[in-house]
Amino acid sequence: MAQGQGQEKITVQALQRMKEAGEKISMITAYDYPTALLVDRAGLELILVGDSVGNTVLGYESTIPVELEDILHHAKAVMRAVKRAFVVGDMPFMSFNISPEEALRNAGRLMKEAQVDGVKLEGGSEVAEIVEKIVRRGGIPVMGHIGLTPQRASQLGGFKVQGRDKETAKKLLEDAECLEEAGIFALILECVPYQLARLITKRIAVPTIGIGAGPYCDGQVLVFHDLVGLSFRFSPKFVKRYLDLAGEIERALRAYKEEVKAGEFPELEAHSFKMSEEVLKEL
Ligand code: KIV
Repeated sequence: MAQGQGQEKITVQALQRMKEAGEKISMITAYDYPTALLVDRAGLELILVGDSVGNTVLGYESTIPVELEDILHHAKAVMRAVKRAFVVGDMPFMSFNISPEEALRNAGRLMKEAQVDGVKLEGGSEVAEIVEKIVRRGGIPVMGHIGLTPQRASQLGGFKVQGRDKETAKKLLEDAECLEEAGIFALILECVPYQLARLITKRIAVPTIGIGAGPYCDGQVLVFHDLVGLSFRFSPKFVKRYLDLAGEIERALRAYKEEVKAGEFPELEAHSFKMSEEVLKEL
């Protein structure tokens, strides 16, 4: 049986075997119980409780205001639903950058309090020491994230494709190798040219998961709300919308409102409760 099939819990080792067998890895974000339940039921191998909860669910303009407490809150809901997928808790802005000790403490909170299976943090060689501390001292699986790292969008000059020129492409290749050396179990490549993603995927032994990084990565990740059409902001080129959920929900809400106004909902037989005439007479 293929590594990503079956009922057993997905592990770091299973993900590694998928890369080695050339079996693609599917990953999606989830922030709540019903979504996580559906994702797990659909059999995707990886769930990210991403700091994208900030823009998708909490209504922030960016991921910067997201707190560790937010990720803990949402990750706990996700973990109540998931039986099989490997769940990664995202480390928000400034929850890992200040010192390796604080990063380890916060990664430990995600493991201990939410009981996620691993953590993710953004950055290249500059966070290698932090990754190493969490992996080797904490024994916590860490997923890396390079390319367009939204927590550094201001420094990067906005939400732009990264690694198009020789200098930045070389830096991303070095970052990937450096993070692998530091002990990551997988690496997210966000918004990089597909040729560079293919090169990194060949160069490093751990799985690469692309978002806007073309088809040659070992796996793909999308933000759930983008995939189902429940996001209301700019949609990047790499997003494929499989559903118009916002449209569906709006249609349902309008139909409900119309039926309430027209006195068509609730129906007497279908949606109401009855008491006996004898009891009624006594009132
Ligand atoms: O928070 C998130 O959703 C992410 C993905 C875009 C990879 O980091």
